[in-house]
Amino acid sequence: MSKPKVFVTRAIPKGGMELIRPACDAEVWAEDLPPPRPVLLEKVRGVDGLLCLLTDLIDGEVMDAAGPSLRVISNHAVGYDNIDVAAATERGIPVGNTPGILTETTADFAFALLMAAARRVAEGADYVRAGKWRTWGPMILLGYDVHGATLGLVGMGRIGQAMARRAAGFGMKVIYYDPYFDASRGAAAGAEERDTLDALLAEADFISLHVPLTKETHHLIDARALGKMKTTAVLINTSRGPIVDTEALYDALTARRIAYAALDVTDPEPLPADHKLLALPNCLVAPHIASASWATRTRMAVMAAENLLAGLRGERLPNCVNPEVYGSR
Ligand code: GLV
Repeated sequence: MSKPKVFVTRAIPKGGMELIRPACDAEVWAEDLPPPRPVLLEKVRGVDGLLCLLTDLIDGEVMDAAGPSLRVISNHAVGYDNIDVAAATERGIPVGNTPGILTETTADFAFALLMAAARRVAEGADYVRAGKWRTWGPMILLGYDVHGATLGLVGMGRIGQAMARRAAGFGMKVIYYDPYFDASRGAAAGAEERDTLDALLAEADFISLHVPLTKETHHLIDARALGKMKTTAVLINTSRGPIVDTEALYDALTARRIAYAALDVTDPEPLPADHKLLALPNCLVAPHIASASWATRTRMAVMAAENLLAGLRGERLPNCVNPEVYGSR
């Protein structure tokens, strides 16, 4: 019997490919950049499974280009705003993602951004490299204390909770806003709920975003929300770029309406090297690497492969974002 045909939209860690290769007739897009749209539409034709990344827009057109053989879409990410899940559900195609395994690694990085912003680590490194370090100075590169400060978590899912645990260890007060979080079911690590986003924004010294990108969260942090923050506030975004209105953030940072932003995700993404945000000393931008540890990226590849293979066998995906495709099965 011939093996199922799959398209993998980029080279992924070995652990994932070691599961896929023996079981599939796999084509891997091995370039550094994602397959351009026409290439993607061509490559998916007739595939049984698709393993894609958050950089690939997988909509109904891609699904139809693949045709009726397509029986699983596996995203190598926990976020899946790049996939039109409703279109997949309509076509009876299960969509997999990689939740849980990147929680701690992502929270580590969000906390690293928080610390780097508070204590101006990147600016300090630039200062030394630029030959400006001529003496110790009582007023040089003063930042904000992390201990004793208030961390405001927007979103109290797995990663928000992991941030709360880290913050407790650093002696921070933690508050959160998440209308979907049921404190009786999740571990809030001593965090206090705030009933409105505005209340959280007005109180927090550090605001860290941990919500998925949806219609509801698009530009959740806009000029109005930035205007509610303290002038000393630090904004950290490791979720998705479009949750923050980039223009409004630029204006707020330029006018020192807030103190600092540390972003692992941006809108647009990638951010062009000549983008005006990158010229601001009070904005630190990383290239969407919060989950990028060797161990976690391997675990993500394995989980994405497991979802793909389960779908190809006609089994329920271990991590499925649209279980309604299974009906009452
Ligand atoms: C990374 O951003 C992910 O969603 O896994």
